[in-house]
Amino acid sequence: MKGRIYTEDTPKKVGEKVRLIGWVESVRDHGKITFIDLRDRTGIVQCVAQGVDRISVESVVSIEGLVKKRPQNLVNEKISTGEVEIEVEKLEIVSKSDEMPFPLSTDGLEIDEGIRLKYRYLDLRRRRMAQNLRIRFKTLQFIRNWLEARGFVEIETPILTKTTPEGARDFLVPSRLQPGKFYALPQSPQQYKQLLMVAGFEKYFQIARCFRDEDPRADRAYGEFTQLDIEMSFVDQDDILELTEELFCDLVKDIFPNKRINKRPWPRVSHKEAMEKYGSDKPDLRENKNDPDELAFCWVVDFPLFNRQTKEDFFYGSGKSEWAPSHHMFTAPHPDDISLLDKDPGKVRGLQHDLVLNGFEVGGGSIRIHQSEIQSKVFDLIGFTEEQKREFEHMLTAFRYGVPPHGGIAPGIDRFLMVVLGEPSVREVMAFPMTSNGTTAVLDAPSVPDKRQLRELKIEVKC
Ligand code: AMO
Repeated sequence: MKGRIYTEDTPKKVGEKVRLIGWVESVRDHGKITFIDLRDRTGIVQCVAQGVDRISVESVVSIEGLVKKRPQNLVNEKISTGEVEIEVEKLEIVSKSDEMPFPLSTDGLEIDEGIRLKYRYLDLRRRRMAQNLRIRFKTLQFIRNWLEARGFVEIETPILTKTTPEGARDFLVPSRLQPGKFYALPQSPQQYKQLLMVAGFEKYFQIARCFRDEDPRADRAYGEFTQLDIEMSFVDQDDILELTEELFCDLVKDIFPNKRINKRPWPRVSHKEAMEKYGSDKPDLRENKNDPDELAFCWVVDFPLFNRQTKEDFFYGSGKSEWAPSHHMFTAPHPDDISLLDKDPGKVRGLQHDLVLNGFEVGGGSIRIHQSEIQSKVFDLIGFTEEQKREFEHMLTAFRYGVPPHGGIAPGIDRFLMVVLGEPSVREVMAFPMTSNGTTAVLDAPSVPDKRQLRELKIEVKC
């Protein structure tokens, strides 16, 4: 709006008339005088008005007035505009607010999460939440610039695609053009990023949305979450670990300068040692668990390539095999263990690497299989039927046309931010996460489709 300035600029305008517009964060009525804290995207400033009618908090108001220096004893050092206040000459209510469904002045964690998500657009006015989203943006921006400077290219991959199993259930989307067939939303861009290596890009990344139908937990969003998906050609495992370590150390230094990474290079722990020594494949290596600024990164390597199948895994295999991939089915076996694939699959180590931070798995990746014979053997070992194998035929075909050895990693953006910001759940760093019942924030999906839509899709609903 013409002539509008931001609250953060008011200290530079002492003695001038200004126009501000924003939300009423608080109102304190002192008889004839009313103190209004006005908030915009840059902060708040105190406004002093005389003879105004009642204004409800969180209304949008436009204020014109004089910027005055506050007397020394009234300076508020907690805010950046604390040395000034606005003497209100004209106040206009642009949009009146109803009473808030919950307070915005607290950190919000004491409020029922379902209500916070129903009114997420209000919950995001909370300082902590607004700040988390801004830090999230800065983090992504930093990563993009850092990787671009090192020759990486960001490439978007399809969302409407075919199953890419990562151990969860798929979300299916019906096809109108081919009734009776369904797309699957990707659990990760795993296959596409490998195909981009066959395409010759060598260094790929993507801030990628992933979709998984699995039970939510504090560190696991239901439905969708974001990964920093990275893939590189002509690398060995060390190259991937070193690049990731450098990226995250530079990122922490730049965006989270108050945090201290307790050890460099990050310790590398074998899966066996992690289990024996710490009783966990995501050990918490902090020196002092009460120190909120300590970050203890470590790598867990030398995982077994296969685990014993559980009922959950039957979802992908035929259910007839003993084995399920420990990471995913594209992870390469350790070259020294190839001969064990036939003899003793349980003993084969995989070239998998997990990135662990303060006891959370914040990333996972591996060197990939790039030979059709080995990929086929892994499909057999995890009990794929001929029909299931055909679903991944394109990978075996691609591997016939000059495929570079390749590997990568995918740190979880939400989970990393949750840990580094000390938040109790990944949902605190997401704008519109789903509820634990699988309902979207605010918009209340899933919903019953229109009968016409179902008819077009040739779908009959039986419940
Ligand atoms: P993986 O399945 O291990 O690997 O996922 C990588 C990282 O993504 C994060 N993550 C999640 N974050 C929030 N909510 C979830 N539901 C969720 N699920 C996973 C975790 C995890 O470490 N394609 C491979 C990567 C590769 O091999 O390069 C993959 O997706 O931080």
